[in-house]
Amino acid sequence: MTENIRINNPNVKYTDTHIEAQYCYHTSAVRRDGDTLTVTPSVSELEFRTERRVPRLGVMLVGWGGNNGTTVTAAVLANRLGLTWRTKTGEQKANYYGSLFQSSTVCLGPGPDGKEVNIPFRDLLPMVHPNDIVFDGWDISSMDLGSAMERAEVLDWSLQEKLRPHMSCLRPRASIYIPEFIAANQVGRADNILKGTMAEQVEQIRADIQDFRHSSGVEKVIVLWTANTERFCDLTAGVNDTAKNLLAAIQSGGEVSPSTLFAVASILEGCAYINGSPQNTFVPGAIELAVERNVFIAGDDFKSGQTKIKSVLVDFLISAGIKPTSIVSYNHLGNNDGMNLSAPQQFRSKEISKSNVVDDMVNSNPILYRKGEKPDHCVVIKYVPYVGDSKRAMDEYTSEIMMGGTNTIAMHNTCEDSLLASPIILDLVLLTELCQRVCVRPQGSETFQSFHSVLAILSFMCKAPLVPPGAPLVNAYFRQRACIENIMRACLGLPPQNHMHLEHKLQ
Ligand code: NAI
Repeated sequence: MTENIRINNPNVKYTDTHIEAQYCYHTSAVRRDGDTLTVTPSVSELEFRTERRVPRLGVMLVGWGGNNGTTVTAAVLANRLGLTWRTKTGEQKANYYGSLFQSSTVCLGPGPDGKEVNIPFRDLLPMVHPNDIVFDGWDISSMDLGSAMERAEVLDWSLQEKLRPHMSCLRPRASIYIPEFIAANQVGRADNILKGTMAEQVEQIRADIQDFRHSSGVEKVIVLWTANTERFCDLTAGVNDTAKNLLAAIQSGGEVSPSTLFAVASILEGCAYINGSPQNTFVPGAIELAVERNVFIAGDDFKSGQTKIKSVLVDFLISAGIKPTSIVSYNHLGNNDGMNLSAPQQFRSKEISKSNVVDDMVNSNPILYRKGEKPDHCVVIKYVPYVGDSKRAMDEYTSEIMMGGTNTIAMHNTCEDSLLASPIILDLVLLTELCQRVCVRPQGSETFQSFHSVLAILSFMCKAPLVPPGAPLVNAYFRQRACIENIMRACLGLPPQNHMHLEHKLQ
Protein backbone atom coordinates (compact mmCIF):
# COMPACT_ATOMS: atom_id res chain seq x y z
CA MET A 1 0.00 0.00 0.00
CA THR A 2 1.48 3.35 -1.08
CA GLU A 3 -0.29 6.69 -0.84
CA ASN A 4 0.41 9.84 -2.82
CA ILE A 5 0.06 12.91 -0.63
CA ARG A 6 -0.66 16.33 -2.10
CA ILE A 7 -0.94 19.32 0.21
CA ASN A 8 -3.65 21.77 -0.79
CA ASN A 9 -2.21 25.01 0.59
CA PRO A 10 -0.79 28.09 -1.17
CA ASN A 11 2.12 27.99 1.30
CA VAL A 12 3.27 24.70 -0.13
CA LYS A 13 4.81 24.55 -3.58
CA TYR A 14 5.75 21.47 -5.56
CA THR A 15 8.49 22.14 -8.09
CA ASP A 16 9.94 19.46 -10.34
CA THR A 17 12.75 18.97 -7.87
CA HIS A 18 11.53 20.12 -4.46
CA ILE A 19 8.66 20.45 -2.00
CA GLU A 20 8.86 23.99 -0.63
CA ALA A 21 6.83 24.80 2.47
CA GLN A 22 6.39 28.03 4.40
CA TYR A 23 6.05 27.09 8.02
CA CYS A 24 5.11 28.98 11.19
CA TYR A 25 7.15 27.58 14.06
CA HIS A 26 5.52 28.28 17.44
CA THR A 27 7.62 28.19 20.62
CA SER A 28 7.46 29.82 24.03
CA ALA A 29 10.10 31.32 26.28
CA VAL A 30 9.62 31.08 30.04
CA ARG A 31 11.07 33.44 32.65
CA ARG A 32 10.81 33.16 36.41
CA ASP A 33 10.35 36.33 38.48
CA GLY A 34 10.05 35.39 42.15
CA ASP A 35 7.14 32.98 42.25
CA THR A 36 5.73 34.05 38.89
CA LEU A 37 6.52 32.32 35.63
CA THR A 38 6.06 34.51 32.59
CA VAL A 39 5.48 32.62 29.35
CA THR A 40 6.04 34.49 26.10
CA PRO A 41 4.90 32.71 22.95
CA SER A 42 6.66 33.50 19.70
CA VAL A 43 6.31 32.54 16.07
CA SER A 44 9.06 32.41 13.48
CA GLU A 45 8.52 31.88 9.80
CA LEU A 46 10.69 29.17 8.33
CA GLU A 47 10.92 27.69 4.89
CA PHE A 48 11.45 23.94 4.53
CA ARG A 49 12.78 22.60 1.26
CA THR A 50 12.81 18.87 0.57
CA GLU A 51 14.44 17.33 -2.47
CA ARG A 52 11.91 15.02 -4.09
CA ARG A 53 14.15 12.60 -5.93
CA VAL A 54 15.29 9.67 -3.82
CA PRO A 55 18.78 8.45 -4.62
CA ARG A 56 20.02 4.91 -5.09
CA LEU A 57 21.20 4.21 -1.56
CA GLY A 58 24.09 2.05 -0.47
CA VAL A 59 24.49 0.99 3.16
CA MET A 60 27.77 -0.35 4.48
CA LEU A 61 27.52 -2.27 7.73
CA VAL A 62 30.45 -2.71 10.07
CA GLY A 63 29.82 -6.18 11.53
CA TRP A 64 28.00 -7.30 8.38
CA GLY A 65 28.51 -10.98 9.20
CA GLY A 66 26.90 -10.72 12.65
CA ASN A 67 23.35 -11.52 13.70
CA ASN A 68 22.00 -8.06 12.89
CA GLY A 69 24.06 -7.66 9.73
CA THR A 70 22.95 -10.95 8.22
CA THR A 71 19.35 -10.62 9.40
CA VAL A 72 18.78 -7.15 7.99
CA THR A 73 20.39 -8.12 4.68
CA ALA A 74 18.32 -11.31 4.50
CA ALA A 75 15.11 -9.47 5.40
CA VAL A 76 15.59 -6.90 2.66
CA LEU A 77 16.37 -9.61 0.11
CA ALA A 78 13.33 -11.64 1.19
CA ASN A 79 11.08 -8.58 0.87
CA ARG A 80 12.59 -7.57 -2.46
CA LEU A 81 12.08 -11.08 -3.83
CA GLY A 82 8.59 -11.30 -2.29
CA LEU A 83 9.50 -14.57 -0.60
CA THR A 84 7.11 -16.78 1.31
CA TRP A 85 8.14 -19.85 3.29
CA ARG A 86 6.61 -22.64 5.33
CA THR A 87 6.78 -22.61 9.10
CA LYS A 88 5.23 -25.12 11.47
CA THR A 89 2.19 -22.86 11.75
CA GLY A 90 1.69 -22.19 8.04
CA GLU A 91 2.93 -19.94 5.31
CA GLN A 92 4.85 -16.80 6.27
CA LYS A 93 5.39 -13.82 4.00
CA ALA A 94 8.34 -11.42 4.17
CA ASN A 95 7.45 -8.14 5.88
CA TYR A 96 8.92 -5.14 7.68
CA TYR A 97 7.12 -5.39 11.02
CA GLY A 98 8.93 -3.33 13.63
CA SER A 99 9.90 -0.58 11.21
CA LEU A 100 8.47 2.81 12.13
CA PHE A 101 8.37 3.95 8.53
CA GLN A 102 7.29 0.75 6.78
CA SER A 103 4.83 -0.65 9.29
CA SER A 104 3.38 2.17 11.35
CA THR A 105 0.95 4.85 10.24
CA VAL A 106 0.33 8.55 10.79
CA CYS A 107 -2.99 10.34 10.74
CA LEU A 108 -3.52 13.05 8.13
CA GLY A 109 -6.90 14.18 9.48
CA PRO A 110 -10.57 13.30 9.05
CA GLY A 111 -11.94 12.28 5.66
CA PRO A 112 -15.39 13.35 4.31
CA ASP A 113 -17.08 10.76 6.54
CA GLY A 114 -15.37 12.17 9.64
CA LYS A 115 -13.22 9.06 10.02
CA GLU A 116 -9.45 9.44 10.45
CA VAL A 117 -7.34 8.88 7.36
CA ASN A 118 -4.15 7.00 8.27
CA ILE A 119 -1.28 6.48 5.88
CA PRO A 120 2.00 4.59 6.09
CA PHE A 121 4.58 6.79 7.87
CA ARG A 122 6.94 6.38 4.89
CA ASP A 123 4.47 8.08 2.55
CA LEU A 124 4.56 11.45 4.31
CA LEU A 125 7.64 12.44 2.30
CA PRO A 126 9.60 10.85 -0.53
CA MET A 127 11.83 8.22 1.10
CA VAL A 128 14.06 5.43 -0.13
CA HIS A 129 12.26 2.08 0.01
CA PRO A 130 14.25 -0.53 1.97
CA ASN A 131 13.86 -3.02 -0.89
CA ASP A 132 16.08 -0.73 -2.98
CA ILE A 133 19.00 -0.54 -0.52
CA VAL A 134 22.25 -2.08 -1.72
CA PHE A 135 24.26 -3.60 1.14
CA ASP A 136 27.98 -4.03 1.59
CA GLY A 137 30.20 -4.04 4.64
CA TRP A 138 33.06 -5.29 6.74
CA ASP A 139 33.55 -8.02 9.32
CA ILE A 140 36.54 -9.41 11.17
CA SER A 141 35.04 -12.82 10.35
CA SER A 142 35.47 -13.85 6.72
CA MET A 143 32.40 -16.09 6.62
CA ASP A 144 30.11 -15.47 3.62
CA LEU A 145 26.68 -14.14 4.48
CA GLY A 146 24.90 -17.41 3.64
CA SER A 147 26.93 -19.31 6.24
CA ALA A 148 26.86 -16.38 8.64
CA MET A 149 23.05 -16.34 8.44
CA GLU A 150 23.11 -20.02 9.43
CA ARG A 151 25.56 -19.26 12.26
CA ALA A 152 23.18 -16.56 13.54
CA GLU A 153 20.30 -19.06 14.00
CA VAL A 154 17.69 -16.31 13.63
CA LEU A 155 15.63 -17.08 10.53
CA ASP A 156 13.47 -20.13 9.82
CA TRP A 157 15.40 -22.87 8.08
CA SER A 158 13.13 -22.99 5.03
CA LEU A 159 13.65 -19.25 4.51
CA GLN A 160 17.41 -19.70 4.85
CA GLU A 161 17.32 -22.33 2.15
CA LYS A 162 15.59 -19.92 -0.21
CA LEU A 163 17.97 -17.10 0.61
CA ARG A 164 21.26 -18.98 0.66
CA PRO A 165 22.02 -18.68 -3.08
CA HIS A 166 21.60 -14.91 -2.80
CA MET A 167 23.46 -14.54 0.49
CA SER A 168 26.41 -16.87 -0.14
CA CYS A 169 27.88 -14.65 -2.81
CA LEU A 170 28.11 -11.76 -0.35
CA ARG A 171 31.38 -11.63 1.59
CA PRO A 172 32.44 -9.01 4.12
CA ARG A 173 35.50 -6.87 3.47
CA ALA A 174 38.47 -7.18 5.84
CA SER A 175 38.12 -4.96 8.89
CA ILE A 176 40.03 -3.11 11.57
CA TYR A 177 40.63 -5.32 14.59
CA ILE A 178 42.18 -4.00 17.78
CA PRO A 179 41.75 -6.89 20.23
CA GLU A 180 41.77 -4.79 23.39
CA PHE A 181 38.51 -3.05 22.42
CA ILE A 182 36.21 -6.08 22.19
CA ALA A 183 36.01 -9.13 24.43
CA ALA A 184 38.89 -11.62 24.30
CA ASN A 185 36.29 -14.32 23.52
CA GLN A 186 35.90 -12.88 20.00
CA VAL A 187 39.43 -13.75 18.91
CA GLY A 188 38.33 -17.04 17.35
CA ARG A 189 36.35 -15.37 14.57
CA ALA A 190 38.93 -12.70 13.70
CA ASP A 191 40.28 -14.16 10.45
CA ASN A 192 39.55 -11.24 8.13
CA ILE A 193 41.60 -8.34 9.40
CA LEU A 194 43.48 -5.45 7.89
CA LYS A 195 47.20 -5.06 8.34
CA GLY A 196 49.28 -1.90 8.47
CA THR A 197 49.34 1.22 10.59
CA MET A 198 46.17 2.82 11.91
CA ALA A 199 46.42 5.54 9.28
CA GLU A 200 46.84 2.95 6.50
CA GLN A 201 43.80 1.05 7.75
CA VAL A 202 41.68 4.21 7.72
CA GLU A 203 42.86 4.82 4.14
CA GLN A 204 41.79 1.27 3.25
CA ILE A 205 38.31 1.82 4.71
CA ARG A 206 38.05 5.01 2.66
CA ALA A 207 39.13 3.09 -0.43
CA ASP A 208 36.49 0.43 0.33
CA ILE A 209 33.76 3.08 0.49
CA GLN A 210 34.92 4.53 -2.84
CA ASP A 211 35.13 1.08 -4.36
CA PHE A 212 31.59 0.22 -3.23
CA ARG A 213 30.27 3.52 -4.54
CA HIS A 214 31.81 2.97 -7.95
CA SER A 215 31.26 -0.74 -8.39
CA SER A 216 27.62 -0.77 -7.23
CA GLY A 217 26.54 2.47 -8.85
CA VAL A 218 24.90 3.81 -5.67
CA GLU A 219 24.66 7.57 -5.42
CA LYS A 220 24.91 7.83 -1.66
CA VAL A 221 26.56 5.71 1.01
CA ILE A 222 25.67 5.57 4.70
CA VAL A 223 27.88 3.62 7.11
CA LEU A 224 26.42 1.97 10.21
CA TRP A 225 28.24 0.21 13.06
CA THR A 226 26.50 -3.01 14.10
CA ALA A 227 29.69 -4.76 15.16
CA ASN A 228 30.46 -5.89 18.67
CA THR A 229 30.24 -3.54 21.61
CA GLU A 230 33.63 -2.06 22.41
CA ARG A 231 34.95 -0.93 25.75
CA PHE A 232 34.81 2.81 26.36
CA CYS A 233 37.70 4.81 25.00
CA ASP A 234 39.69 7.00 27.41
CA LEU A 235 39.02 10.66 26.73
CA THR A 236 42.45 12.26 26.71
CA ALA A 237 43.38 15.85 26.02
CA GLY A 238 45.72 16.02 23.06
CA VAL A 239 44.49 12.68 21.67
CA ASN A 240 40.79 12.74 20.94
CA ASP A 241 39.60 16.11 22.26
CA THR A 242 39.72 17.95 18.92
CA ALA A 243 39.43 16.95 15.26
CA LYS A 244 43.04 17.95 14.64
CA ASN A 245 44.35 15.93 17.60
CA LEU A 246 42.27 12.91 16.63
CA LEU A 247 43.62 12.93 13.07
CA ALA A 248 47.15 13.30 14.48
CA ALA A 249 46.55 10.41 16.93
CA ILE A 250 45.53 8.22 13.98
CA GLN A 251 48.80 9.10 12.25
CA SER A 252 50.88 8.34 15.36
CA GLY A 253 48.85 5.32 16.53
CA GLY A 254 47.28 6.60 19.78
CA GLU A 255 44.24 5.31 21.69
CA VAL A 256 41.57 5.30 18.97
CA SER A 257 38.93 2.56 18.81
CA PRO A 258 38.04 0.73 15.59
CA SER A 259 34.56 2.28 15.67
CA THR A 260 36.06 5.78 15.83
CA LEU A 261 38.41 4.90 12.97
CA PHE A 262 35.39 3.88 10.90
CA ALA A 263 33.61 7.09 11.88
CA VAL A 264 36.61 9.18 10.81
CA ALA A 265 36.94 7.32 7.50
CA SER A 266 33.21 7.79 6.78
CA ILE A 267 33.23 11.47 7.68
CA LEU A 268 36.27 12.06 5.50
CA GLU A 269 34.37 10.36 2.66
CA GLY A 270 31.36 12.59 3.32
CA CYS A 271 29.24 9.60 4.40
CA ALA A 272 26.85 9.77 7.35
CA TYR A 273 27.91 7.45 10.17
CA ILE A 274 25.53 5.82 12.65
CA ASN A 275 26.62 3.98 15.78
CA GLY A 276 24.33 1.10 16.77
CA SER A 277 26.38 0.03 19.79
CA PRO A 278 26.85 1.67 23.17
CA GLN A 279 30.54 2.60 23.15
CA ASN A 280 31.71 6.24 23.01
CA THR A 281 32.71 6.19 19.34
CA PHE A 282 31.89 9.86 19.09
CA VAL A 283 34.76 11.26 21.12
CA PRO A 284 34.81 15.09 21.03
CA GLY A 285 37.33 15.09 18.15
CA ALA A 286 35.05 12.90 16.00
CA ILE A 287 32.06 15.17 16.64
CA GLU A 288 34.15 18.23 15.77
CA LEU A 289 35.31 16.57 12.56
CA ALA A 290 31.71 15.79 11.54
CA VAL A 291 30.65 19.39 12.23
CA GLU A 292 33.64 20.77 10.30
CA ARG A 293 32.87 18.54 7.31
CA ASN A 294 29.10 19.01 7.54
CA VAL A 295 28.47 15.27 7.72
CA PHE A 296 25.71 13.62 9.76
CA ILE A 297 26.54 11.39 12.71
CA ALA A 298 24.05 9.67 15.01
CA GLY A 299 23.80 7.11 17.79
CA ASP A 300 24.24 5.50 20.19
CA ASP A 301 23.00 1.92 20.64
CA PHE A 302 19.84 0.63 18.95
CA LYS A 303 16.77 1.06 21.15
CA SER A 304 15.13 -2.26 20.43
CA GLY A 305 13.63 -4.13 23.37
CA GLN A 306 13.88 -3.58 27.08
CA THR A 307 14.90 0.07 26.83
CA LYS A 308 12.15 0.82 24.35
CA ILE A 309 9.60 -0.54 26.79
CA LYS A 310 11.26 1.45 29.58
CA SER A 311 10.93 4.65 27.58
CA VAL A 312 7.21 3.92 27.13
CA LEU A 313 6.41 2.64 30.60
CA VAL A 314 8.26 5.24 32.64
CA ASP A 315 6.88 7.97 30.39
CA PHE A 316 3.39 6.62 31.06
CA LEU A 317 3.89 6.29 34.82
CA ILE A 318 5.48 9.69 35.43
CA SER A 319 3.16 11.52 33.07
CA ALA A 320 0.22 9.88 34.88
CA GLY A 321 1.53 11.25 38.17
CA ILE A 322 2.76 7.89 39.48
CA LYS A 323 6.24 7.72 40.99
CA PRO A 324 8.53 4.89 39.86
CA THR A 325 10.89 4.20 42.76
CA SER A 326 12.74 1.12 41.55
CA ILE A 327 13.42 -0.29 38.09
CA VAL A 328 15.23 -3.61 37.93
CA SER A 329 16.04 -5.12 34.54
CA TYR A 330 17.50 -8.57 33.99
CA ASN A 331 18.45 -9.88 30.56
CA HIS A 332 19.84 -13.14 29.40
CA LEU A 333 20.80 -13.92 25.86
CA GLY A 334 22.88 -16.53 24.13
CA ASN A 335 24.07 -15.01 20.89
CA ASN A 336 27.54 -13.71 20.06
CA ASP A 337 26.57 -10.24 21.29
CA GLY A 338 25.76 -11.84 24.66
CA MET A 339 29.10 -13.62 24.71
CA ASN A 340 30.91 -10.36 23.98
CA LEU A 341 28.92 -8.59 26.71
CA SER A 342 29.90 -11.24 29.25
CA ALA A 343 33.28 -9.48 29.48
CA PRO A 344 33.23 -6.75 32.18
CA GLN A 345 34.46 -3.80 30.11
CA GLN A 346 32.02 -4.42 27.28
CA PHE A 347 29.16 -4.99 29.74
CA ARG A 348 30.10 -1.67 31.36
CA SER A 349 29.53 0.13 28.01
CA LYS A 350 26.06 -1.40 27.78
CA GLU A 351 25.30 -0.65 31.42
CA ILE A 352 26.15 3.04 30.94
CA SER A 353 24.06 3.21 27.77
CA LYS A 354 21.07 1.66 29.53
CA SER A 355 21.40 3.66 32.74
CA ASN A 356 20.31 7.20 31.83
CA VAL A 357 17.23 6.35 29.85
CA VAL A 358 14.71 7.61 32.38
CA ASP A 359 16.50 10.81 33.43
CA ASP A 360 14.57 13.21 31.20
CA MET A 361 11.24 11.83 32.42
CA VAL A 362 12.30 11.95 36.09
CA ASN A 363 13.68 15.48 35.74
CA SER A 364 10.44 16.66 34.13
CA ASN A 365 8.42 16.10 37.29
CA PRO A 366 9.50 18.03 40.40
CA ILE A 367 6.22 17.09 42.11
CA LEU A 368 7.30 13.45 42.30
CA TYR A 369 11.08 13.83 42.55
CA ARG A 370 13.17 16.23 44.64
CA LYS A 371 16.13 17.81 42.85
CA GLY A 372 18.71 15.07 42.25
CA GLU A 373 16.39 12.25 43.36
CA LYS A 374 16.15 9.24 41.03
CA PRO A 375 14.52 5.82 41.14
CA ASP A 376 16.85 2.91 41.95
CA HIS A 377 17.83 1.53 38.56
CA CYS A 378 19.72 -1.72 38.09
CA VAL A 379 20.60 -3.53 34.86
CA VAL A 380 21.92 -7.10 34.74
CA ILE A 381 22.94 -8.99 31.58
CA LYS A 382 23.88 -12.67 31.61
CA TYR A 383 25.15 -14.90 28.83
CA VAL A 384 23.17 -18.14 28.50
CA PRO A 385 24.19 -19.87 25.25
CA TYR A 386 21.13 -22.13 25.10
CA VAL A 387 18.67 -19.32 24.36
CA GLY A 388 20.68 -18.11 21.33
CA ASP A 389 19.28 -14.97 19.72
CA SER A 390 16.06 -15.33 21.69
CA LYS A 391 16.65 -12.71 24.31
CA ARG A 392 14.79 -12.84 27.62
CA ALA A 393 14.19 -9.62 29.48
CA MET A 394 12.61 -9.55 32.92
CA ASP A 395 11.72 -6.21 34.41
CA GLU A 396 10.23 -5.14 37.69
CA TYR A 397 8.89 -1.60 38.02
CA THR A 398 7.91 -0.57 41.51
CA SER A 399 6.08 2.71 41.93
CA GLU A 400 4.65 4.73 44.74
CA ILE A 401 0.97 5.47 44.26
CA MET A 402 -1.52 7.51 46.26
CA MET A 403 -1.30 7.62 50.07
CA GLY A 404 1.86 5.52 50.31
CA GLY A 405 0.52 2.61 48.27
CA THR A 406 2.80 0.47 46.14
CA ASN A 407 2.29 -0.65 42.58
CA THR A 408 4.54 -3.34 41.11
CA ILE A 409 4.56 -4.23 37.44
CA ALA A 410 6.60 -7.27 36.42
CA MET A 411 7.04 -8.30 32.83
CA HIS A 412 8.75 -11.01 30.86
CA ASN A 413 9.71 -10.36 27.27
CA THR A 414 11.00 -13.05 24.91
CA CYS A 415 11.94 -12.47 21.30
CA GLU A 416 14.64 -12.74 18.67
CA ASP A 417 16.86 -9.77 19.31
CA SER A 418 18.01 -9.35 15.73
CA LEU A 419 14.45 -9.28 14.40
CA LEU A 420 13.86 -6.24 16.59
CA ALA A 421 17.15 -4.55 15.69
CA SER A 422 16.96 -5.08 11.90
CA PRO A 423 13.96 -2.84 11.19
CA ILE A 424 15.54 -0.20 13.43
CA ILE A 425 18.70 -0.32 11.29
CA LEU A 426 16.50 0.36 8.26
CA ASP A 427 14.66 3.23 9.95
CA LEU A 428 17.97 4.80 11.01
CA VAL A 429 19.44 4.85 7.52
CA LEU A 430 16.21 5.85 5.77
CA LEU A 431 15.61 8.79 8.09
CA THR A 432 19.25 9.86 7.81
CA GLU A 433 18.98 9.77 4.04
CA LEU A 434 15.79 11.84 4.13
CA CYS A 435 17.43 14.42 6.41
CA GLN A 436 20.19 14.81 3.82
CA ARG A 437 17.54 16.06 1.39
CA VAL A 438 15.89 18.55 3.77
CA CYS A 439 17.08 22.08 4.38
CA VAL A 440 15.56 24.98 6.27
CA ARG A 441 15.73 28.74 5.80
CA PRO A 442 15.36 30.46 9.17
CA GLN A 443 13.38 33.69 9.39
CA GLY A 444 15.42 36.68 8.25
CA SER A 445 18.06 34.53 6.61
CA GLU A 446 18.88 34.49 2.92
CA THR A 447 20.35 31.02 2.97
CA PHE A 448 19.12 27.51 3.61
CA GLN A 449 20.86 25.34 6.16
CA SER A 450 20.78 21.64 6.88
CA PHE A 451 20.20 19.98 10.26
CA HIS A 452 23.04 19.99 12.80
CA SER A 453 25.65 17.31 12.10
CA VAL A 454 24.61 15.51 15.28
CA LEU A 455 21.33 14.16 13.95
CA ALA A 456 19.22 14.18 17.13
CA ILE A 457 16.00 13.40 15.24
CA LEU A 458 17.25 9.79 15.23
CA SER A 459 16.91 9.67 19.05
CA PHE A 460 13.77 7.55 18.72
CA MET A 461 15.84 4.59 17.52
CA CYS A 462 18.71 5.04 20.01
CA LYS A 463 19.13 3.99 23.63
CA ALA A 464 21.56 6.77 24.48
CA PRO A 465 20.78 9.54 21.99
CA LEU A 466 23.55 11.80 20.86
CA VAL A 467 22.39 15.42 20.68
CA PRO A 468 24.12 18.67 19.74
CA PRO A 469 25.85 20.45 22.63
CA GLY A 470 23.28 22.13 24.88
CA ALA A 471 20.28 20.48 23.18
CA PRO A 472 17.72 18.71 25.40
CA LEU A 473 18.12 14.96 25.56
CA VAL A 474 14.77 13.22 25.09
CA ASN A 475 14.31 9.51 25.79
CA ALA A 476 10.53 9.51 26.26
CA TYR A 477 9.10 7.35 23.49
CA PHE A 478 6.09 9.37 22.39
CA ARG A 479 7.92 12.69 22.42
CA GLN A 480 10.62 11.18 20.22
CA ARG A 481 8.07 9.77 17.81
CA ALA A 482 6.12 13.03 17.71
CA CYS A 483 9.37 14.87 16.93
CA ILE A 484 9.91 12.81 13.77
CA GLU A 485 6.27 13.03 12.69
CA ASN A 486 6.02 16.77 13.30
CA ILE A 487 9.27 17.63 11.54
CA MET A 488 8.13 15.59 8.55
CA ARG A 489 4.77 17.39 8.68
CA ALA A 490 6.62 20.72 8.82
CA CYS A 491 8.30 19.80 5.54
CA LEU A 492 4.76 19.72 4.11
CA GLY A 493 3.74 22.98 5.80
CA LEU A 494 1.41 21.04 8.12
CA PRO A 495 1.08 22.07 11.78
CA PRO A 496 2.18 19.63 14.53
CA GLN A 497 -0.21 16.78 15.23
CA ASN A 498 -2.16 18.06 18.23
CA HIS A 499 -4.76 15.35 18.93
CA MET A 500 -7.21 18.04 20.14
CA HIS A 501 -10.21 16.97 18.01
CA LEU A 502 -11.84 20.25 18.93
CA GLU A 503 -14.35 19.86 16.11
CA HIS A 504 -15.89 17.00 18.10
CA LYS A 505 -15.74 18.68 21.47
CA LEU A 506 -17.76 21.83 20.86
CA GLN A 507 -21.58 22.10 20.94
P1 NAI B 1 27.03 -10.16 16.63
O1 NAI B 1 28.09 -10.49 17.60
O2 NAI B 1 26.20 -11.26 16.09
O3 NAI B 1 27.62 -9.38 15.39
C1 NAI B 1 28.67 -8.49 15.49
C2 NAI B 1 29.62 -8.73 14.33
O4 NAI B 1 30.65 -7.76 14.40
C3 NAI B 1 30.31 -10.09 14.38
O5 NAI B 1 30.12 -10.76 13.16
C4 NAI B 1 31.80 -9.74 14.58
O6 NAI B 1 32.64 -10.64 13.92
C5 NAI B 1 31.86 -8.36 14.00
N1 NAI B 1 32.93 -7.48 14.47
C6 NAI B 1 33.45 -7.30 15.71
N2 NAI B 1 34.39 -6.35 15.70
C7 NAI B 1 34.46 -5.88 14.43
C8 NAI B 1 35.23 -4.89 13.78
N3 NAI B 1 36.13 -4.18 14.44
N4 NAI B 1 35.02 -4.67 12.48
C9 NAI B 1 34.11 -5.39 11.77
N5 NAI B 1 33.36 -6.36 12.34
C10 NAI B 1 33.53 -6.60 13.65
O7 NAI B 1 26.10 -9.07 17.38
P2 NAI B 1 24.66 -8.54 16.97
O8 NAI B 1 23.65 -9.30 17.75
O9 NAI B 1 24.55 -8.47 15.51
O10 NAI B 1 24.72 -7.06 17.60
C11 NAI B 1 25.59 -6.13 17.02
C12 NAI B 1 25.73 -4.90 17.90
O11 NAI B 1 24.49 -4.25 18.01
C13 NAI B 1 26.23 -5.20 19.31
O12 NAI B 1 27.16 -4.25 19.71
C14 NAI B 1 24.99 -5.04 20.12
O13 NAI B 1 25.25 -4.66 21.46
C15 NAI B 1 24.27 -3.95 19.37
N6 NAI B 1 22.86 -3.94 19.67
C16 NAI B 1 22.06 -4.99 19.31
C17 NAI B 1 20.73 -4.98 19.62
C18 NAI B 1 19.82 -6.09 19.21
O14 NAI B 1 18.67 -6.07 19.53
N7 NAI B 1 20.28 -7.07 18.48
C19 NAI B 1 20.13 -3.88 20.37
C20 NAI B 1 21.06 -2.84 20.69
C21 NAI B 1 22.35 -2.88 20.32
